[in-house]
Amino acid sequence: MNKRVAILISGGGSNMVSLVQDMVEDHPARTCLVLSNVPDAGGLAKADTFGIPTATVDHRNFPKDRPGFENTLQEVLLQAEPDFICLAGFMRILTPEFTQKWAGRMLNIHPSLLPKYKGLNTHQRAIDAGDTEAGCSVHEVTGELDGGPILGQAIVPIHDGDTADQLAARILPMEHKLYPQVLRRYIDGMREQLTLR
Ligand code: GRF
Repeated sequence: MNKRVAILISGGGSNMVSLVQDMVEDHPARTCLVLSNVPDAGGLAKADTFGIPTATVDHRNFPKDRPGFENTLQEVLLQAEPDFICLAGFMRILTPEFTQKWAGRMLNIHPSLLPKYKGLNTHQRAIDAGDTEAGCSVHEVTGELDGGPILGQAIVPIHDGDTADQLAARILPMEHKLYPQVLRRYIDGMREQLTLR
């Protein structure tokens, strides 16, 4: 019986697409839901083209009410009965109370070589620091923002004169390679870190 994977997005969903396209044939999982906190997220239309059920839980309907947002999120997720959750360009910070419910079953991709550059503006920070390498990390989601055990990283060079956008464009295709490979390994119970270059 295939495992069920829910994917949470906030935007274009390019990582969601790469995950969906990998979960075919002999892959042990299938996508059961694509959920966004943004009603008009481009990734929702992409999920529709794959015939994947979609849902929206608009965080703007819960002003200053994070528990209300997360309770609704949880209700929608439970209806889809996922075995795993992949955060893929999901731009809401989840509380430890929520992440604890999915401990050991929720992954995220972050556009930096964690533990460096948790949070936002990761590429510009790496450039400003004079780093020679950057990349992305897939990690287990815990109560600590961008802080869970690292399951995989993809490393790319920073070129002299790179802008943040140029660096992001070099990293994004590596995200699309890394995340599906890490998810397959994770579902198979593998926890040692994968490194791609
Ligand atoms: C990606 O850089 C990803 O690392 C970050 O959000 C960006 C957009 O992702 N989490 P996507 O195209 O929406 O998957």
